[in-house]
Amino acid sequence: MSEAVPVLTLDGPSGSGKGTIARSVAGQLGWHLLDSGAIYRLLALASERTVAALDDEAALTETAAQMHLTFLPDEAGETRALLDGEDVTELIRTEACGERASQVAGLPGVRQALLRRQRDFQQSPGLVADGRDMGTIVFPEASIKIYLTASVEERARRRYKQLKEQGVGVNLHDLSQEIAARDERDATRSVAPLVPADDAVVIDTTELGIQAAVEAVLGEARRRQALPGDD
Ligand code: DC
Repeated sequence: MSEAVPVLTLDGPSGSGKGTIARSVAGQLGWHLLDSGAIYRLLALASERTVAALDDEAALTETAAQMHLTFLPDEAGETRALLDGEDVTELIRTEACGERASQVAGLPGVRQALLRRQRDFQQSPGLVADGRDMGTIVFPEASIKIYLTASVEERARRRYKQLKEQGVGVNLHDLSQEIAARDERDATRSVAPLVPADDAVVIDTTELGIQAAVEAVLGEARRRQALPGDD
């Protein structure tokens, strides 16, 4: 894979601030953004609709290869996710869809089928790739690799606040346990487990505000690579 088009990978567990930080960093650099979790979530939704059983690797792999995905910016600059032309942005953000995504993501055939689709996002002038295995598997040649983390308690608090704002009633303790269980599954699966790449810089966002975390990521990017606007 060529590094002619630079890639900044941002990996880490859910609630580490990845999504928000990736969007902001991509916006400030003027680079493309790959939200790989959204692709796994779209697969979770697509497979639910075709009623593929979660252990039917062949059917899920086929869906992963064939499903028709589009990411489009809306007027507010937010990304809308389309599955076979239908806007499913809100549908893929539920806890149930995240849970199903984490399960289908454990299948080697599925991960293989999605590799090429993710690599196609590497377009000029650069890419910020957000996920779990961006620096280890999908873009191992990336010049800037960041691994974001935060305590389980803090990540549960962030998710709780988000869900409350959306009017979804959840229990903080249950949420904390679900997050810990999902982390465990993502980190211990045999294919592409959630681990920092050897050459990744680890940033703990437990005590950091979003702006400070964005600055830390941009600072790291500047140290590793001359960026647009640099002397
Ligand atoms: O980041 P997210 O919560 O939208 O991701 C949903 C699930 O997809 C997550 O539990 C694990 C899986 N995933 C993955 O295995 N590899 C990625 N690169 C991104 C997400």
